[in-house]
Amino acid sequence: MSMEPFAAVDVIRAKRDGRRLDDEQIAWVVDAYTRGVVAEEQMSALAMAIFLRGMDAAEIARWTGAMIDSGERLALAVSRPTVDKHSTGGVGDKITLPLAPLVAACGAAVPQLSGRGLGHTGGTLDKLESIPGWRAELSTDEIVRQLDEVGAVVCAATEGLAPADRKLYALRDVTATVESIPLIASSIMSKKIAEGSSGLVLDVKAGSGAFMKTPELARELARTLVEIGTAHGVATTALLTEMSVPLGAAVGNAVEVAEAVEVLRGGGPADVVELTLALAREMLALAGLSEVDPAEVLASGRAYETWCRMIRAQGGDPEAALPAPEHVHVVEAERGGVLSTLDAYAVGVAAWRLGAGRARRSDPVQYAAGIRCLAKPGERVAAGQPLLELHTDTPDAVPGALAALDGGVLVTDSAPEATRPIVLDTVRGS
Ligand code: URA
Repeated sequence: MSMEPFAAVDVIRAKRDGRRLDDEQIAWVVDAYTRGVVAEEQMSALAMAIFLRGMDAAEIARWTGAMIDSGERLALAVSRPTVDKHSTGGVGDKITLPLAPLVAACGAAVPQLSGRGLGHTGGTLDKLESIPGWRAELSTDEIVRQLDEVGAVVCAATEGLAPADRKLYALRDVTATVESIPLIASSIMSKKIAEGSSGLVLDVKAGSGAFMKTPELARELARTLVEIGTAHGVATTALLTEMSVPLGAAVGNAVEVAEAVEVLRGGGPADVVELTLALAREMLALAGLSEVDPAEVLASGRAYETWCRMIRAQGGDPEAALPAPEHVHVVEAERGGVLSTLDAYAVGVAAWRLGAGRARRSDPVQYAAGIRCLAKPGERVAAGQPLLELHTDTPDAVPGALAALDGGVLVTDSAPEATRPIVLDTVRGS
């Protein structure tokens, strides 16, 4: 006789029939799945039932709590207020790179436990690993020491954080159950809450290059994320931001690091600077440091100094040359006019096909692969003017990248409708 208090099939049936799961059922099913008592096929049925039937706010908060309880919680005993940022993922989204050292230079501690890219969205760790010598894996002691000494850490999430999510995310990836707001929100928040930061700012992306294609869906995800944070005692704010066009000019690994360094040295594309400062202001407000002006700190060079210390603390050489591609293919405008479309998803897939991303978690990435966008929507271009540079070490990848860009880069006679602002809305916790 099993000593288990529930049978998985009853939990699946309850959700399949549209009933809410009670706290005990949720705590048990997540724990039993982590222990291997609930089988993969049972959890895939339950994930699909949740995908189709949804969960209410209390169920989502409890589900998130159960995923946190499946592993350890970091105790970040540091002297400064801790605040973190998480992005739901986009194309050209290198914001963590300038943001973490900037917020640290403003006086907070930023523990940024990050992931690798999968699919068309890039991963922060893949980008940073293009810096010679830089190391993503740190022990908890090293994380705490670096937070105290430098104020910012960007590193791989330790194995012990939310192991239920690790298992469930891999299962969702192969069972078409990724794009469910309760499952996405609990997945993100379980890792972020387990990380032990007292404040959290979420960058929830909306547009073709994001999980959430419309601002309405992104707003619903943002509200759900903020509710979970609030329910777990973490001060949480979400910004809804534009992701139908790549962020900045660079998409890939080393090219994005180079662009982040430009921002830290006082230059860089306007949209990257604007979003970095907007997120920094929210993070500083949650850390009780709203009197500090991040624009001033960025201009002073202190954020760049913190970046150099952060990279060195993890074995990297911030002055070293970044990997250069073996092959560059230039895409030119076929006609003159106005660049009316530069689709984030198309550019993301093209960069991925050039070698910047991976199809399976175990695949290597090419650090030099990626795309530089030489014009932004709304700009007037002449026939033959270079629009994109495709960077790769494997020229055979170029035709596949060009196919991904087909229809995603358009020059037309008239200007597009006014482009959306980068920050579309703000959702604050109660
Ligand atoms: N990122 C996560 O960590 N989990 C999801 O489910 C989606 C995006």
